[in-house]
Amino acid sequence: MILENLKEAAKDPILSLSTACRQDTNPNKVDLGIGVYRDDQGITPVMEAIKIAEKRLLQEQSTKAYIGLAGNEAFNQVMIDLMLGDSSSKQRAVGIQTPGASGALRMLADVIKASTPDATVWLSDLSYANHAPIMKTAGLKVRYFPYFDPETKRVQTDAMMTCLQDAGANDAVLLHGCCHNPTGADLPFEGWERVTDMSIKQGFLPFIDIAYQGFGDGMEEDVRGFRYLAERVESYVLTGSCSKHFGLYRERTGIAVVAAKTLEQSNRVKTRIVEAARSSYTMPPDHGAALVEIILNDDMLKANWLAEVESMRLRIEGLRHKLVATLRGKSGSSHYDFIAQHKGMFSVLGMTPEEEKILREKYAIYLVGGGRINIAGMQERQIDYIAQSILSL
Ligand SMILES: Cc1ncc(COP(=O)(O)O)c(C=O)c1O
Repeated sequence: MILENLKEAAKDPILSLSTACRQDTNPNKVDLGIGVYRDDQGITPVMEAIKIAEKRLLQEQSTKAYIGLAGNEAFNQVMIDLMLGDSSSKQRAVGIQTPGASGALRMLADVIKASTPDATVWLSDLSYANHAPIMKTAGLKVRYFPYFDPETKRVQTDAMMTCLQDAGANDAVLLHGCCHNPTGADLPFEGWERVTDMSIKQGFLPFIDIAYQGFGDGMEEDVRGFRYLAERVESYVLTGSCSKHFGLYRERTGIAVVAAKTLEQSNRVKTRIVEAARSSYTMPPDHGAALVEIILNDDMLKANWLAEVESMRLRIEGLRHKLVATLRGKSGSSHYDFIAQHKGMFSVLGMTPEEEKILREKYAIYLVGGGRINIAGMQERQIDYIAQSILSL
């Protein structure tokens, strides 16, 4: 009978780690696992501009009636503006609001599958833990290209490009727009130039995922490589998340963007994304997108929001430098200097599973398998303890 033979699902490695940390009674425990930004008190704050926008929304919203299938179109436009800036490809870009970037990844995967049933999506090795499951559940094949060099802790651009020579017109290549999750190693600008040329020559579809705009070098700087590509390739697809830079994690606010050869083609693809959405969740939740629309359409609120994102970015950058300086001071070695070169919330330190186990069981320091630490989850007072523990391995 239906349901009887179902086995229990495997536990989500990141979320179960977070639960284990919550239950740990060690007073020194540090949760560097789950990917949320925290301030120096360990709190993931509701941003000031969001609070103001929420008040305004509460006063002004007059209905909770359904919104269109593509969600809030004004939100779609401001998000396209934020990610694309003045990029000429904006004229052929269309968006649909989705439940987080996760929803966008799945809707775009569904549309790729509908268009090219035997398509392969290429992922960086390593990549965001949910990329492969989402692509595979949509029925797409997944292949990996070399990305993170465990020795140098940087991107192996040459090896990546050599491998991607196998990607052709039935393939999509998924790139993190900035602040690569989990490694923290971003594709250098020259890498974006090379991928752009290869896409033009080989015909693969660039699939860009932007989840941390503003957390690396700045709101505009972080999308320089992506915009270079967007202006030159024939078509691309893009996902955007408001979980991190608007702190709207639980509001599930994201966007899927398509820029095909012409606006007419993009609009045709949009009808297929809408169709995919209709047969799964139908419409995205409204609240988060309504707030983003208010903020990005109001100069004062936007300036307030940009300043807060910048302060978050500077905090993360400061933590990176403090951790490196402490590790250097205690060990006299420059082994961990790469942490300061990485961008965004995460860095992969390259520990073995045994070392991760020691950190967890002996020091109550929780990090994601593969040695990913969430820099944005640290508090300054914990840095000494974290550095000492790492160096004891
Ligand atoms: C690279 C990347 N893409 C997408 C997502 C999904 O974000 P959202 O919360 O908008 O679904 C994340 C979340 O951590 C991410 O790191």
